[in-house]
Amino acid sequence: MKPVLAPSILSADFGHLARDVNTVVDAGAEWVHVDVMDGHFVPNITIGPVVTRAVRAATDKTVDVHLMIEEPDRYLKAFVEAGADRVTVHQEACVHLHRTVHRIRELGASPGVALNPATPLGTIEDVVADIDLLLVMTVNPGFGGQAFISSMVDKVRRARALLPADREVVLQVDGGIDERTAPLVVDAGANSLVAGSAVFRHREGAAEGVRAILRALPGSGGTE
Ligand code: DX5
Ligand code: ZN
Repeated sequence: MKPVLAPSILSADFGHLARDVNTVVDAGAEWVHVDVMDGHFVPNITIGPVVTRAVRAATDKTVDVHLMIEEPDRYLKAFVEAGADRVTVHQEACVHLHRTVHRIRELGASPGVALNPATPLGTIEDVVADIDLLLVMTVNPGFGGQAFISSMVDKVRRARALLPADREVVLQVDGGIDERTAPLVVDAGANSLVAGSAVFRHREGAAEGVRAILRALPGSGGTE
């Protein structure tokens, strides 16, 4: 799969959510990333199935839900029913990760697993065959607008080597992705890029935020 951009609506204007979703999609974003935080797994509280449903209603593009919550099993059905195409849970939040991943697929969504920066890749080695996406966090989850952790580039490279060659498993990165860091992670093997502030806080607007990152990718033919 060619690299796709997944703007995180965490940094959007919630008073004009459908407008912002349409803006980034029209500018070339293939996925829309929904950051769900519960105030327990991470310190921040954000949004849930109700807002996911609003995103679903605004676009036909992939709705990519990132659950930064404890006991995600309790809410999987609600997010899939709200229209999530992809659901990613944190390894650190799942005691029975294999079961959780299979539950996501049974519900009809595509399962992903996320790793915090400090969590070793070895912790998901035995579920790689069961997942469609691996998310390597490039910040500690909880807030938008944090600085990219550059040592994660090597983790992305090692993650790509761990993933099967005969089946597409998306390698996603999330946190501090902008025009400067996007080419580094794509070069290391990432092919789904989450970006919040670099898109929605771009000084020339969110459409230009999307285009600037896409232009910076290797092989885009844009200015590098
Ligand atoms: C971090 C979230 C991210 C975040 C990205 O906890 O999972 O998706 O919104 O925001 P930026 O791109 O601003 O780092
Ligand atoms: Zn996220």
